[in-house]
Amino acid sequence: MPKPAFASSPTRILVLLASAVLVAAAGFAFYYPARRAGAPLIGGPFALQTADGKTVTDKDMLGHPYLVYFGYTHCPDVCPTALAQISDVLGKLPGKPVKTLFITVDPERDTPAIMGDYVSSFDSRIVGLSGTLREIDNVEKAFRVYARKAESKNGDYAMDHSSVVYLMDRNGEFVEAFNLERSAAESAKELESYL
Ligand code: NI
Repeated sequence: MPKPAFASSPTRILVLLASAVLVAAAGFAFYYPARRAGAPLIGGPFALQTADGKTVTDKDMLGHPYLVYFGYTHCPDVCPTALAQISDVLGKLPGKPVKTLFITVDPERDTPAIMGDYVSSFDSRIVGLSGTLREIDNVEKAFRVYARKAESKNGDYAMDHSSVVYLMDRNGEFVEAFNLERSAAESAKELESYL
């Protein structure tokens, strides 16, 4: 029995292909609604608290490049090491308006006051931020941060967390995971190029 002529016609194949493209495009638009084409899907709006009772938002950061790092004050090694390295980099850029936001992944223990106290031993342009569980959860999702409680036997806990230093440009757009595995001078030179 012969197939209907339409079934295999070039027109029908083109219609099917065009439909497939449209479905794919619609699916992409559904999952990535408010993003510029090609922009990395990292970052987003946030509003978090400093030790002196101020709120810092992504809008406040516009105009200068900045770094964002997630961690917590009970962290035994990774966080203090990263913050010390960032301090060294900032130390090569005296007086330059390059802030670093240190955002807690442990808001239950890290109040804004504790965060402020903790960062006071590093470069003064490192700002400690905390927020409600929901606020922290939202900013973690925006930056695709992995953070999870790891309970210990004595009822205490640590936080397993990803350790990425995010470089944001003066427009608040994510540039790259900032490389600290080089000399502070080299890192500073790159950071300065975004001023
Ligand atoms: Ni840590």
